[in-house]
Order: sequence, then structure tokens, then C-alpha cells
Amino acid sequence: MHKGIAIYPGSFDPTTNGHLDLIERGAKIFEELVVAILRNTEKSPMFSVAERLGMLRELTADLKNVRIDTFDGLMVEYAKSLDATCILRGIRAISDYEYELQMALMNRKLEPTLETVFMMPADKYSYVSSRLVREVAQAGGPVKGLVPEVVEQKLREKLDPAYKLRDVRMLEVLDRKAFDRKEKKRKKKA
Ligand code: PNS
Repeated sequence: MHKGIAIYPGSFDPTTNGHLDLIERGAKIFEELVVAILRNTEKSPMFSVAERLGMLRELTADLKNVRIDTFDGLMVEYAKSLDATCILRGIRAISDYEYELQMALMNRKLEPTLETVFMMPADKYSYVSSRLVREVAQAGGPVKGLVPEVVEQKLREKLDPAYKLRDVRMLEVLDRKAFDRKEKKRKKKA
């Protein structure tokens, strides 16, 4: 296990099974892994930073050496503020390589002591990205198996506000049925 802190930075809008796979792999290699969500005011994300933070915290609650945080400004500055020694990034396919190489070399130029480490998620997630998940979900397609269940649920709530309401109404109906049954029993006894 590598001593010290590693940062896994990203947008996580939303977290996919590929992200989660990488977090689990990173947690086995690094003493402490900080998953850092970029607070980017320019982009208009699907999920707020608070929502992304909440989902990631829930998903990593069992991983004791994983912490979720947010940052803005330069990633290397944030990494330095934590005394981190490594940046963790995932590479899925050759198409990721060029962008990741550029970013790694720019980060090295900005902070030569910070090392970027690349890991590959499981090949079954090699085509999964947050952007495609958003696109499929927005068009009403299924994202089961591509994102964790909690994310799937949140996507459903976000894209179909009636869904949450339907859930609440269903609970009300079930509550009412349970109440009616109890009443029936009580009256029978009396
Ligand atoms: O999940 P993403 O959107 O591919 O993550 C990109 C991220 C957040 C890692 C990158 O945009 C970043 O580090 N931004 C912070 C600003 C910064 O340091 N830019 C210089 C990187 S070369």
C-alpha cells in the first residue's frame, strides 16, 4: 500500500459504476484516497455539488480510507493543501489517453512533485461515462447496471418530478390499507 494521500478529482455528474470501481481499486492501493468534486461555476451540472457529495458519501460509506471533498481553483493547489502525493485518474480507452496525458503533463508542470497515477476500471465499464449516462437518462433510456442504484433513483427523481410524488402517494395508500386492517381487527375483537 502506498503511504500518504491520493486525490481522485473529477466532476462526478453523476457517479457511475466506473467511478466507483476506480475508487474501490484506488482504496486498495493508497493509504488515504480523497475523492474531490470540482465546484465549477461555469458548467451547468445536472446534479448540484451537494447532491453529488451526498451520493458519493453514501456510496463510499464502507470504505474507511476514502473521504469525499470538494475543491475549486487549481487541482494541484488543492492537492498541496492536503499534502497529497498522487493524483488518481481513470483511463477507459485510447480516446481518454490524449486528454489525460495533457492534463497530467500540465499538472506536472504546475507541481513537479505530484505524480499522476492511471488505473483502468473493469472492462465492462469501459464505455460508461457520466455524459452518456445523462444523455441516455434524459432521453428516457435505461441506465441500470451503469450507475449505482442510488444514482439511478436520483436520476429518476430529477428527470420525472412526478416520480417522487408517486412514491409518497404509494406510501400513503399502503399506510391507509394497514390502518384499515388494524381497525377491522379491533372492531372484530370489540
Ligand atoms: O471528471 P472530469 O470532468 O474529467 O474531471 C476534470 C478535472 C476536474 C479533474 C479537471 O478539470 C481539473 O482538475 N480541474 C481543476 C482546474 C485545474 O486544475 N485545471 C488544470 C488541469 S490541467
